[in-house]
Amino acid sequence: MKVLGISGSLRDASFNTNLLRAAAELLPHDVEFELWDGLKAIPPYDEDDDVEPAPAAVAALRSAIAGADAVLIATPEYNASIPGALKNALDWVSRPLRSNPLRNKPAAVVGASTGAFGAVWAQAELRKVLGTIGARVLEGDVAVGHAPTRFDEQGRLTDEQLVVQLQEVVSGLVDEPSSVPSALGATA
Ligand SMILES: Cc1cc2nc3c(=O)[nH]c(=O)nc-3n(C[C@H](O)[C@H](O)[C@H](O)COP(=O)(O)O)c2cc1C
Repeated sequence: MKVLGISGSLRDASFNTNLLRAAAELLPHDVEFELWDGLKAIPPYDEDDDVEPAPAAVAALRSAIAGADAVLIATPEYNASIPGALKNALDWVSRPLRSNPLRNKPAAVVGASTGAFGAVWAQAELRKVLGTIGARVLEGDVAVGHAPTRFDEQGRLTDEQLVVQLQEVVSGLVDEPSSVPSALGATA
């Protein structure tokens, strides 16, 4: 089994990227984890450019998602929503809607912010977007508030309660069948 981790942050020292690294440590040993690092290379979505062949960075993302059994996304909160770069990447992935690689794919959402609430609004927005695209969005979240106090200097998640919550999300993702008959219809 393979899990693809997508961070919505471009920052080198991103708490959200560190959260994905913490999640990777909690996966069973026989589960492969890939941390996708191509977000910055995704061009702004332009429907005129959304033709074959797709821009290389977009094709790489679509292929990385198609090759994974499940997706784990960690999102920062930017102005009560998800970062534009992440939304832009998901817009590219969403087309064509009926055959996009996220359709029917198990996806879990976690998030970290420097404020008190741990990107809960962004996580809710991301769930809405992923559901619209057709992903199978799993229950369970991890909201890392006051992020600078929850990681050590090496970027490891130190809050035991959050580690337990993250373990639950990761286990749910691993236990979810990677493929079930789709009952979802296209919405746009
Ligand atoms: C443009 C911008 C908008 C932000 N808006 C919010 C917000 O609405 N709520 C919040 O809790 N934090 C907000 N923050 C703070 C982020 O939570 C913080 O920068 C966080 O560390 C980003 O995640 P990262 O460490 O993974 O890059 C904002 C930060 C930026 C740069």
